[in-house]
Amino acid sequence: MISGHLLSAADLSKEQALNLLATAKELAQITDGPNKKLPTLRGKTIVNLFFEDSTRTRISFETAAKRLSADVINFSAKGSSVSKGESLKDTAQTLQAMGADAVVIRHGSSGAAKRLADTQWIQAAVINAGDGTHEHPTQALLDAFTIKQHLRPGSKDLSGIKVLIVGDILHSRVARSNILLLTKLGAELTLVAPPTLLPVGVSDWPVKVSYDFDSEISKCDVVMMLRIQLERMADSFFPSAQEYSRRYGLNSARLSKLAKNAIVMHPGPMNRGLEISAESADDLKSVIIDQVKNGVAVRMAVLYELLGGAPLGDSK
Ligand code: CP
Repeated sequence: MISGHLLSAADLSKEQALNLLATAKELAQITDGPNKKLPTLRGKTIVNLFFEDSTRTRISFETAAKRLSADVINFSAKGSSVSKGESLKDTAQTLQAMGADAVVIRHGSSGAAKRLADTQWIQAAVINAGDGTHEHPTQALLDAFTIKQHLRPGSKDLSGIKVLIVGDILHSRVARSNILLLTKLGAELTLVAPPTLLPVGVSDWPVKVSYDFDSEISKCDVVMMLRIQLERMADSFFPSAQEYSRRYGLNSARLSKLAKNAIVMHPGPMNRGLEISAESADDLKSVIIDQVKNGVAVRMAVLYELLGGAPLGDSK
């Protein structure tokens, strides 16, 4: 059971993370049946507080909350009083007055979720749905769920699974949360990126680093491609898009070097033709759509655990 907030993948012990994945599996089985809705969070109010754009995360949190019978308020900074200069504090206190039990926050500033959780502005549980370049813990949980589903369905954890994370590590909150969570679950991680897209201090992380995608691709079980985050790049981090694709993009030639059972992942949204070719994104090895689907079950599990939902049934 987790309590309080979910701000970072580091908040979860290995046991808590595995319990969340088991709960998500159980919820996925229930909601894959004819009755997708459970009464477990009836009477709770969940606010989606999104200061940055999102498709997958916002919609899947909304779907997850509704499948658990919670009331959902969707707040987007665009079109709200934030555009008139309203502060995070005043926005949070407005949500508190409306009776929020959980606030799912996405914000462009690293640390925004923690700031919301640390202040007394609200009493609700805070879930980090992506803060700047810092973390995106529920993405890491759904990625771990997807890897386990495809490669280790009968195992307790992800021991020995070799994961290659390729691309814009520097700006990636997905990479940071995945490094924390997947290594905790026993996976072995290698980062592949040009030196300009690796953060200072990467040598202290529990990962191997390589600049040579071609020499690594045949050795992995999972290749996780990251989006080039052009919106966070004021400077030029590589000579040209063509040069980046040639050295670090996943294309059909590289795809053919993957091991027979290896899988291709991408958190989305994808820049097709830049970090991943259309053929690779749509290949049978791609589990990108499964990642999106699993996001609902994993976020249901997080809401269920944080808000202390009613028991799921005899199997729980
Ligand atoms: N992976 C992810 O966070 O996607 P969205 O930006 O669409 O939510």
